[in-house]
Amino acid sequence: MGLQGTFTSGGLGFEVWPGAQVFATWLLEGELGIHVRNKDVLELGAGCGLAGVLTAIFAKSVVMTDGEVALTPTLEQNRSEAKMGAHMASVLQPALVLRWGGETPDLYTPVEADGVLVTGDLDRDRKLHFGSREADELGTYEVIIAADIIYHTGHIATAIVTDIIPRYLKLDGRFFLVIPPERDGSDDFLQAAREAEAQERISMTVERAPRHYIPQQFRDKLDAGVGFRLVTIQRRDK
Ligand SMILES: C[S@@+](CC[C@H](N)C(=O)[O-])C[C@H]1O[C@@H](n2cnc3c(N)ncnc32)[C@H](O)[C@@H]1O
Repeated sequence: MGLQGTFTSGGLGFEVWPGAQVFATWLLEGELGIHVRNKDVLELGAGCGLAGVLTAIFAKSVVMTDGEVALTPTLEQNRSEAKMGAHMASVLQPALVLRWGGETPDLYTPVEADGVLVTGDLDRDRKLHFGSREADELGTYEVIIAADIIYHTGHIATAIVTDIIPRYLKLDGRFFLVIPPERDGSDDFLQAAREAEAQERISMTVERAPRHYIPQQFRDKLDAGVGFRLVTIQRRDK
């Protein structure tokens, strides 16, 4: 299977990142495949969509989203070219734009609102068109997946805990996230998650990815204290 990227446009989402490779191994060789089997899945910050497309092998439905509008055609192309049988075609749903945390450096498409935004359309000036699709229309999911979506500090990192999980993850549903080493914002994200855990809104496990999950080119660089983290969050609150 080949995944398209649009490198001429630049942007962080236009390549497959090592976090997505670790996610793929977690899914295909680890226990993650069991957790997504026959589930309705939402992917955040999908980029080119490797994690979402592979998850569709197991899941009941997968909606790939990204906060960068310019990525939607790439996600759509990869969705339609994921030639792994009729099952995949029916599982992968149309890609959508979902932005959390408001204005985000490195994302080209400007937004004028804070919080969560979901849209299928651009206006005439190629800005996000508010109100074309209400955030709540996206529904709720048994599983949310994400690879390497945290690299800004503060609200952009914590909004995933405070906005996205309560809004889109079903009660008892699970959020699976890969955090690569040395990412800005990962401490803010984990701190917000620990606070939510203390309030019994979620439970969380953070594990070091086994060495064989790590892409070869990174293995030599990882010293004892640094690694890719596999985060699992389960929604607990009512
Ligand atoms: C480093 S790339 C990872 C892409 C893909 N998950 C992978 O691992 O190959 C980060 C992705 O998150 C998206 N992203 C970053 N901040 C975001 C935000 N605030 N809201 C929605 N998407 C965001 C970017 O557009 C980009 O596609």
